Amino acid sequence: MSQNKQGILVTGGAGFIGANFVLDWFRSSDEPVVNLDLLTYAGNPQTLVSLEGDDRYRFVKGDIADTTLIARLLGEHEPRAIVNFAAESHVDRSIHGPEDFIQTNIVGTFRLLDAVRAYWTGLKGEAKDNFRFLHVSTDEVYGTLAPDDPAFSETNQYLPNSPYAASKAASDHLVRAYHHTYGLPVVTTNCSNNYGPYQFPEKLIPLVIVNALAGKPLPIYGDGQQVRDWLYVTDHCSAIREVLAAGQLGETYNIGGWNEKPNIEIVNTICALLDKLRPRADGAGYGEQITYVTDRPGHDRRYAIDARRIERELGWKPAETFETGIEKTVAWYLDNAGWVEDVQSGAYRAWVEKHYGDGRDKPKGIRGRSGSRSVVRPDAKEAV
Ligand code: NAD
Ligand code: TYD
Repeated sequence: MSQNKQGILVTGGAGFIGANFVLDWFRSSDEPVVNLDLLTYAGNPQTLVSLEGDDRYRFVKGDIADTTLIARLLGEHEPRAIVNFAAESHVDRSIHGPEDFIQTNIVGTFRLLDAVRAYWTGLKGEAKDNFRFLHVSTDEVYGTLAPDDPAFSETNQYLPNSPYAASKAASDHLVRAYHHTYGLPVVTTNCSNNYGPYQFPEKLIPLVIVNALAGKPLPIYGDGQQVRDWLYVTDHCSAIREVLAAGQLGETYNIGGWNEKPNIEIVNTICALLDKLRPRADGAGYGEQITYVTDRPGHDRRYAIDARRIERELGWKPAETFETGIEKTVAWYLDNAGWVEDVQSGAYRAWVEKHYGDGRDKPKGIRGRSGSRSVVRPDAKEAV
């Protein structure tokens, strides 16, 4: 690492959360970062273009499953910590094709852990004592909640339902096992749904903003009453920094925004903000574009995070409410149409065509429009 400072190795730092983490890191630190990212469809070096030529930052294109590369990077840069964001992260893609999720999230995490273990074993004294491997995971490993169930705490049983969630659960177990078996100094974070700038427009919030502006349907799976606990991405970044600095080894920390909302409410909020900030030329509301489509198979009904442990032990709580966070997010997408255009490559269009346009997910009806298509009532049961 440059400047005689130890630095950290971030994996998956060209993706949504990883890139926000790297940008956020340099707002409060000069400690160098090496960013290892395979640049899959979800990785976008454009997000980090402001760091070009900055000698605190080095980008390396590569796979977390490439143990030779990892060993070389660890030997060259001698980082004091690894923050592992690299993953396949989209539930719908895991349903269409789980294999990449097994490869990166399970095999990749295993290979990374093994290479890191060899490096850590060779460290001495303070360098060895202070080393950390922070694994970034998800609340989806806990499965789904009924409406009145308490929110997920760190002691909830793992009951993953999608191939994505199962692959993340497996990676969490491997991280845990490397601590218990080999003593590797690990900490794991399980967070709720993130949103904010630079999120790839396959996830609900950016997809709805981008589709709304393009005059396209806003697809709501099933009845739109599924609940997620939304966390603004820079709040997630600050939580990770706290856990890295002071998290207890071998422990897990749940990170959430205390913002449980049904999907339809999220979409209505985005439509209302766009109506105010970028009204439609025809004077109609963006809500006209809401379209109920066939539900996701095995769709988890509700996620909610009990984030009291991280607040109690590390003094972290989110700075943003959903109202402040979503306003910032919508404003960012309006101001950064160029970034959105860049990521809407051929690969993006192919995904949209496969997932929304192949007949399986045909729209069931458009709310607020009359016509030949039947309107699906929000309380209607969807076939899975
Ligand atoms: P993302 O899909 O936007 O980015 C993932 C990044 O990892 C991409 O840059 C991609 O190129 C890279 N990558 C993929 N496979 C790789 C490999 N084999 N080697 C190296 N790099 C590889 O994901 P995200 O939303 O930024 O999520 C980051 C992490 O946070 C993931 O581990 C995810 O499971 C977790 N998480 C995300 C959310 C969320 O709401 N986005 C919520 C909870 C947990
Ligand atoms: P998503 O952003 O894919 O995150 P996750 O599945 O990890 O929670 O989806 C968030 C919620 O929005 C989830 O309940 C599925 C729903 N959803 C839609 O209703 N329509 C869509 O087009 C997408 C992408 C998601």
